[in-house]
Amino acid sequence: MIPSSLWKDNTLYQPDKLIDIYKNKLIELSMYDHAKKYHKKTTGATGGKNIAETKKHFAERFLTSSARTQFVIIDPREDFLEISVNLKATFGGGKISILDIPAGTGAGILSLLSNISELRAHSKLPKLPLYINILAGDFSSSALKIYNELLEEIKMYLEYQLIYINYEICEWDASSPQSTNLLIRKFLQNEDAYEEHYVFMSAFSGVGSPIYKQFDKSFTYIQIALSHLNTTILYIEPNTNEASSFSKFITKLHKLTTWLPKVINISQDSTSRFKWYDPITGNTPKSGIILKQYSREK
Ligand SMILES: C[S@@+](CC[C@H](N)C(=O)[O-])C[C@H]1O[C@@H](n2cnc3c(N)ncnc32)[C@H](O)[C@@H]1O
Repeated sequence: MIPSSLWKDNTLYQPDKLIDIYKNKLIELSMYDHAKKYHKKTTGATGGKNIAETKKHFAERFLTSSARTQFVIIDPREDFLEISVNLKATFGGGKISILDIPAGTGAGILSLLSNISELRAHSKLPKLPLYINILAGDFSSSALKIYNELLEEIKMYLEYQLIYINYEICEWDASSPQSTNLLIRKFLQNEDAYEEHYVFMSAFSGVGSPIYKQFDKSFTYIQIALSHLNTTILYIEPNTNEASSFSKFITKLHKLTTWLPKVINISQDSTSRFKWYDPITGNTPKSGIILKQYSREK
């Protein structure tokens, strides 16, 4: 059973705490009016290196991204049953280390954390101590600054549900293997302390398909560098043509990863899009998801 605060009348509602934090940050950045007037008919800003692009992306796309992650976790129609069960088991308790790339302003990870917390608050998940280490990589320092501030805001609230996070941000360029090497060294510096390593890649496809091949060395490196660990790699993307190309690119790269034999591929068609409530505009847009998960046999 899913709490009605998160799913009601076939519509997804995001956790109040996440919305509060998001709204306050919009106001602080003087982007609340922009977000209120923005209609999600166009694809919206994709996020970039400078502060103006970051703010625009934050105001236009944050809630769309967080809604997708939430829909996978709570899985109200059982579209992603195995993944949703797996996520709830992984984040049920223990010590987990997450590599959040590209982190952006944190829509994906904040949705993951706030929804696990909400499920615990409604006794839909056991409330066992959960220690999460997060390393956030992105090439936009302005996005990482907002990320850091939002995680600081949510930290205390998570602790009421025995979710303890520590996090670090790291400037990272996916087109540079050297930069990826530094990121991974940081991610693994205390690897023995964690039972599971999780690579969370949400909304990378928007950079555009001509760019993807610049990432192949870094993505391959990440897979190999984690091959000795209990690792899960999860990709959550919107259901767009670009994300379909991204998905094909990822499938090709993962031909190497024989140590992650359990592969789940889900691509929702346009008839399966879900409705979610946007508390800033009052609209109920629809979204679809392309999802891939690579893990060891469980
Ligand atoms: C749509 S955001 C995704 C953020 C977050 N994961 C989410 O779920 O919303 C895409 C991010 O990719 C970052 N990005 C684009 N090119 C990159 C590159 N070459 N290396 C690292 N990050 C990059 C942008 O700065 C932006 O923050």
